[in-house]
Amino acid sequence: MINKPNTVEAGLPSDFLWGFATASYQIEGAIDQEGRKSCIWDAFAAKPGKISDGTDGRTACDSYNRTGEDIALLKSLGAKAYRFSIAWPRIIPLGGRDDPVNQVGVDHYIKFVDDLIEAGIVPVVTLYHWDLPQNLDEKYGGLLNKDEFVKDYVRYARVMFEALGSRVPYWITFNEPFCSSGLGYAVGKHAPGRSSDRTVNDEGDSSTEPWLAGHSIMCAHGAAVKMFREEFKPKYGGEIGITLNGDYGYPWDPSNPEDVAAVQRKLEFAIAWFADPIYHGKYPDSMRAQLGDRLPTFTDEEIASIKGSNDFYGMNHYCSHFIKSWAPKPAPITDIEGNLECLFFDVNGTPVGEETQCPWLRPNAPGFRKLLGWISERYGGPRILVTEFGTSIKGENDRPYPEILDDEFRCEYFRSYIRAMAEAVAQDGVNVFGALCWSLMDNYEWSEGYETRFGVCYVDYEGGQTRTPKKSAKETREIFEKYIGK
Ligand code: NOJ
Repeated sequence: MINKPNTVEAGLPSDFLWGFATASYQIEGAIDQEGRKSCIWDAFAAKPGKISDGTDGRTACDSYNRTGEDIALLKSLGAKAYRFSIAWPRIIPLGGRDDPVNQVGVDHYIKFVDDLIEAGIVPVVTLYHWDLPQNLDEKYGGLLNKDEFVKDYVRYARVMFEALGSRVPYWITFNEPFCSSGLGYAVGKHAPGRSSDRTVNDEGDSSTEPWLAGHSIMCAHGAAVKMFREEFKPKYGGEIGITLNGDYGYPWDPSNPEDVAAVQRKLEFAIAWFADPIYHGKYPDSMRAQLGDRLPTFTDEEIASIKGSNDFYGMNHYCSHFIKSWAPKPAPITDIEGNLECLFFDVNGTPVGEETQCPWLRPNAPGFRKLLGWISERYGGPRILVTEFGTSIKGENDRPYPEILDDEFRCEYFRSYIRAMAEAVAQDGVNVFGALCWSLMDNYEWSEGYETRFGVCYVDYEGGQTRTPKKSAKETREIFEKYIGK
């Protein structure tokens, strides 16, 4: 359309909330400090062979002791918002509803949030970014025990709403339940590392456990939101939602209806698993059809608290794949993806994007725009906060200092993804009100250890955890501002 106005350059609203994101276990270190007790990632990382470089989060970026430095860094980059997570094992070290609260831990986050606000940075707080107190896993199986888990999570959430409710405008109940459930209980690559694949792990039942774990998270999310809305929101205001991850999918062979259908199944198994109960009040039909009663059912009370529980949709998105159906072959009982394969090349051998350091990530900016559209359409145009997007770079960690600071690949990722997001807003009518880049700094990339870097700032782990902005750190502000209306 020749006369279509180019609205993209001012595509994002003038009060667009942009900034950076991190998570407690990945940056804090200080695992034995000020009353913190062990979490499932401490225990998982201690098992031989689970982390590619054999490391753990005991030191990480030492952010627990460098809050001032991190806030100064955010300020110098012009960030308007910072998403970080609270470590449950610092707040209630043993985790349970009858266990003592560690006031020193609570005070740490109160001060951190006060300092952020003082610096003019909006706090976006995640309550659960995977560091479940180890005691709860040992005592009753953690996420596998819904009734116990929900009560303990709600108590923990209550402590945090009481402490920070008056200060925090955006709360996220859980980060990426797909990963906690699927990677933690089927694939076995994330804590607690359960899987029935004996070549990966030595325990677990992948045919049922991921679905039970996901169900517990949904019920805990619903119960915490209900409490927040009844007891805290009337006093303090604030919004609450959950962060869901999801890659976009293109059909491997667009002329094959089986592959086209598989794309929908893929998005339903990854995203709608959690988003459908919130926006539509039930699990997707495709999941029920494949999983039968291995997928639990919500009680009336549970679904009443879950349906409508998002004030905003927290979206984590990194990449896309080509989707190839396995149909008519039935899915194995341990399948968590929807009877399909996720590939990097299509039927003609065209790659979806360039390789990165992560075996699962190839950037594809048009997929971001398409997925924003898919979410918007399926869920009635929710307000979306992009709570993470970002990339690793193949071989980045092998580059000597200071060349490592020249992360042009990451700059290009943010240029293309932010443009795609601005197009989704300006031209497709998607309602995105903020976006947070993953990550403020290099950090502990879970089972990929410290070899995979995601930061816009370089962290010198051997040289006292010094943070140095890479090229992308300096450019992010410019890129966002290009698309933010005046
Ligand atoms: C999503 C997770 O929330 C975060 O913890 C992780 O580091 C990034 N993806 C990159 O893998």
